[in-house]
Amino acid sequence: MAGRIVFRFPLLATVVALNLTPGGIGGKLSNQDTAKAIKIRHHFLSATEIPDVPPPPAPPEGVTAEYGHYLAEIAGCIHCHGPNLAGGPLPGVPDAPPAANLTPAGLKGWKEADLFKAIRQGEKPDGSRINAFMPWQDYRHMSTLQLKALWLYLQTVPPVPSKNQ
Ligand code: HEC
Repeated sequence: MAGRIVFRFPLLATVVALNLTPGGIGGKLSNQDTAKAIKIRHHFLSATEIPDVPPPPAPPEGVTAEYGHYLAEIAGCIHCHGPNLAGGPLPGVPDAPPAANLTPAGLKGWKEADLFKAIRQGEKPDGSRINAFMPWQDYRHMSTLQLKALWLYLQTVPPVPSKNQ
C-alpha cells in the first residue's frame, strides 16, 4: 500500500517518511487529536484507490504555474482537494473536515503570504488552526520556490464556488 503512495505522490511520501524518524515532527506530537487526524489521513491515503498512471512529466523547476501544477499533482493536493481543487467532503472519512476550496473563489482575498502561512504554520489568515488532516506539517518542508510556483498555479485555476456558500 505504501508503495503505491510513494509511486503516485513522491513528494508527500518523502516528507511523510521524514516524519517517522524519532526526532521528526511525529515524535513531537503531543496533541491526541492531531495524532488521530494524521492516523486517519494515512489510512485514507493508503486505502483510496489510486489510478496506476505514471506521474506527469516534470517541467523545468521554476516559479511558474506549470511547475506549480506539477507539484499539486505529485504532492497529492488534488487527491483530497479534487482535480478542480474545489474541495468538499472526503469519501469514507466522516471524521475529517471537508477539504477546502483552493480555487480563487475559495481562497478569495488570500495573498501569497497567506499560502506560506497555511503551509508552513498551519494557520489560516484569521489566525485559526488548519485541521491536522491537511498535511501541512509534511508540506512545510517545501521550498520557497515550490510554494511560489504553487501559488501561481492556484491563481490560474478556474474559480468554483464552494458548495455550502
Ligand atoms: C489528506 C488530504 C489533503 C491533502 C493531500 C491536501 N490537503 Fe489541503 N486541506 C485538507 C483539508 C481536509 C482541509 C481543511 C482543513 C480545515 O478545515 O481546517 C485543507 C485545507 C487546506 C488549506 C486551507 C484553506 C482554507 O481556506 O482554510 C490550504 C491552503 C490547503 N489545504 C492547501 C493544500 C495544498 C497546496 C496541498 C498540496 C501540496 C494540500 N492542501 C493537500 C486536506 C488535504
